[in-house]
Amino acid sequence: MSQDITYGDYLRLPDLLACQQPQTGEHDELLFVILHQTMELWMKQIIHEVAAAQGEIRSGNLVPAYKQLARVSRIQAVMTQAWDVLATMTPADYLNFRALLGTSSGFQSAQFRVLEYKLGLKDETFLRYHAEDSADRAKLEDALFSPSLYDDVLIQLAKAGFDIPESAYERAPGAPYQSSEAVENVWLEVYRNTQQHWGLYQLAEKLIDLDDALLTWRHKHVLTVERIIGRKRGTGGTEGVGYLQQTLTRRAFPELWSMRTKL
Ligand code: HEM
Repeated sequence: MSQDITYGDYLRLPDLLACQQPQTGEHDELLFVILHQTMELWMKQIIHEVAAAQGEIRSGNLVPAYKQLARVSRIQAVMTQAWDVLATMTPADYLNFRALLGTSSGFQSAQFRVLEYKLGLKDETFLRYHAEDSADRAKLEDALFSPSLYDDVLIQLAKAGFDIPESAYERAPGAPYQSSEAVENVWLEVYRNTQQHWGLYQLAEKLIDLDDALLTWRHKHVLTVERIIGRKRGTGGTEGVGYLQQTLTRRAFPELWSMRTKL
């Protein structure tokens, strides 16, 4: 940093602090804006860390990736706690400005979908919410059509000699991952012989930390949504709480969950 740069210059605080533009005079609207913006900033950091972890894993450096993955789950914990701040906004407070949101919704968060795609939750139906020639759409397509974090891990397992069928990581571009007994058996082998496969066992636990934390975030989101809008429809057009509850079944690393029953 050059000597005459200030704290505000370095962090671009005039720009950052000009980005909160509530549309009404309602007291709670600023909190609503800041909650969304901070979560988007944390998603940006998570995407950055997951990309770095994928780079390490692709190069066969599993241990350095633990650091990035551990950081991601700590960020996710902060994001989950943030719902408690938002929940101080009552239904009456929110109704004072909800109408101005029109059809906008977190459902349209491009970064959230990029993150889902990068982890392994591929679902191309979400592309349609982003204009074809937009920068967001390009980022989404890149994440959708590139190997996910889970694909990269499965490729490493195959390289290490485990019996992972090619079909597990070689799918049509953007196709959703299908869990298989073959992959489940490989994880069973790792978890039954932890001393022998310590590195992979640790990596698997880091992955499940991420899936667990994402589900915890989703769970707290749906609870907060019910607390604030009850069973009303969402501004994004879904049935609201009912839709969000269905997302609680999404698992980025399905065999790491199912394998536990068979251990
Ligand atoms: C008063 C606060 C909030 C309410 C009432 C609310 C409500 C909803 C509802 C009803 C949906 C389903 C889509 C729809 O029909 O709109 C949704 C989706 C979503 N919201 Fe929120 N939300 C709130 C705050 C937030 C915040 C602070 C974030 C952070 C970025 C966020 C991120 C998301 C995301 C990522 C989805 C898509 C989830 C998925 O499809 O898996 N929401 N929200």
